[in-house]
Amino acid sequence: MPIYHSLGKIPHKRHTVFKNGKDRFYYEQLFGTIGFDGMSSLLYHVHRPTMVKELRKPKDLTPKIAVEKNMRALRLHGFKTRPEKDHLAARKAILVNSDVLAAPQAKSVDYFYKNADCDEMIFVHKGSGTLRTFLGNIDFKYGDYLMIPRGVIYTMEFKDSDNRLFIVESHRPMYTPKRYRNWFGQLLEHSPFCERDIRRPKKLETHDEKGSFVIKVKKQNMLHELVYASHPFDVVGWDGYNYPYAFSIHDFEPITGRVHQPPPVHQTFETDAFVVCSFCPRLYDYHPQAIPAPYNHSNIDSDEVLYYVDGDFMSRNDIGPGHISLHPAGIPHGPHPGAMERSIGKKETDELAVMVDTFKPLMVTEEALKIDDGKYWKSWIE
Ligand SMILES: [Fe+2]
Repeated sequence: MPIYHSLGKIPHKRHTVFKNGKDRFYYEQLFGTIGFDGMSSLLYHVHRPTMVKELRKPKDLTPKIAVEKNMRALRLHGFKTRPEKDHLAARKAILVNSDVLAAPQAKSVDYFYKNADCDEMIFVHKGSGTLRTFLGNIDFKYGDYLMIPRGVIYTMEFKDSDNRLFIVESHRPMYTPKRYRNWFGQLLEHSPFCERDIRRPKKLETHDEKGSFVIKVKKQNMLHELVYASHPFDVVGWDGYNYPYAFSIHDFEPITGRVHQPPPVHQTFETDAFVVCSFCPRLYDYHPQAIPAPYNHSNIDSDEVLYYVDGDFMSRNDIGPGHISLHPAGIPHGPHPGAMERSIGKKETDELAVMVDTFKPLMVTEEALKIDDGKYWKSWIE
């Protein structure tokens, strides 16, 4: 996130001697992305962050692909995803590259996690708790996007066992849209959100502990289990631009117009491979002849995934919270029969949804087919 942030204590000059009292050095770590070109932070550890003492057998997480070349519109019932205790084991990859559904039940787990491949966007549909990271903690609740850059060591603690998460993993960094930022990165006046809406980590946890600490590291679709000799949350201070943050979908200020506005006005995040949009409660178009429902549109070069969160979704019939639709690239889609007519004269919508448009086709996994209704693709026939 392009806002400078700092927690804990740091030396006046980078790369200089920094000690706890007289004798114990703190160990500096550059935590960066894209070689030395991307966002980075400088961290100061109580112990060397390199003390691996055991490598356990890795687990293969490669999703089982059911449909590699898909041309069928799908509706998945996300809430039918089987809940599981552990917040990692609960993750079910449904559309690759790479959307994940999770319904974790356990309030906490006894290990730490790091995704070495991907930035993660965890959308909290149900549940609340604390995202604990080695760069500080962030409380989360319904409607939060938790943005976790690759490499952040973290764990999630939930207040209770009824949790529903929609997770997107990205091999490329996820940023706020460039057109909303000036040349220094500041969010501009026409952006639907600003820096005040970005919740940065607080309450840095510093554990000066030696022992055996498991970090599960996801890399190349393998979940490696590394045992470290010191607690991974042992940072006394850090500063920089590379850190996790939260943004609530309820803080997104919708852009509206006299006639129907295209999906990019809802854009919230971007990468080289996909965009994320937030559809939020808003007033409808106010031209006297306006049609608030979207027009049919051709998904010629993007697969479109919509995760329905809440409210009445005007453009479709039979859509409820936790449903996920996939409209594949190559063919047009649009409102269901009756939805366009129904929308005329309506003043506002209370719909809440997250959209992910990918620039390469998504493959459908076996997990997705378990929650697929199988008939959505012909739901436009009257
Ligand atoms: Fe669409």
